[in-house]
Amino acid sequence: MSGRFISLEGVDGSGKSTQASMLADALRDRGHEVVAVREPGGTPLGEAIRDVVLGPDAMSPWAEALLFAAARAQLVADVIRPALEGGQWVVADRFLDSSLAYQGTARGLGIERVAQVNAPAIDDCMPDLTIIIDIDPASAADRRAGRGSVDRIEDEGEALQEAVATGYREVARLFPERIALVSGAGSLDEVHTHVLAAVIGGL
Ligand code: TYD
Repeated sequence: MSGRFISLEGVDGSGKSTQASMLADALRDRGHEVVAVREPGGTPLGEAIRDVVLGPDAMSPWAEALLFAAARAQLVADVIRPALEGGQWVVADRFLDSSLAYQGTARGLGIERVAQVNAPAIDDCMPDLTIIIDIDPASAADRRAGRGSVDRIEDEGEALQEAVATGYREVARLFPERIALVSGAGSLDEVHTHVLAAVIGGL
């Protein structure tokens, strides 16, 4: 039997990483074997790419997009596809839609073109369901401020994050059959309840 693939998405400070780990725990409690991954990363090559792509050195938008795609190709080949074929569930903290929102929209490369370069990396291994944690820009900015400087992209500031939020709304509009928007307002437990309801209702 093949497993299910769920990705969580959102702007920096949306709380999606916490929600991804709460979701993975809840699915384990329901008896599923769950593999949790994060992007960029999740393989030795992916973690090395993470250091480069989130490091301090400036890079061109396409170099950035292709590095994320390279890390994704390795993660799909080594971790996600084998897990799904083995009947495990995969919960991903970010996947393709991050590239569509950050590189496609916020960097201006175009959602369509970024999707095209990612197609061979993903090789039809797409999430069954993607949850975008939708949070107002001020709350996300507050959470980012609370954790200090973290990486090159997050450090770029508010205009980029606003463009990313616009990108996510566009991606949700383009792929309504795969994507559920869940409000990130409220306590961790409240948001988790909504995430779980989206998973149970959406698969
Ligand atoms: P992440 O580790 O999720 O950061 P955080 O835990 O702070 O949310 O992601 C690192 C950064 O990389 C984040 O700013 C989003 C960015 N990113 C892209 O621009 N494109 C991508 O395809 C991915 C996966 C991440």
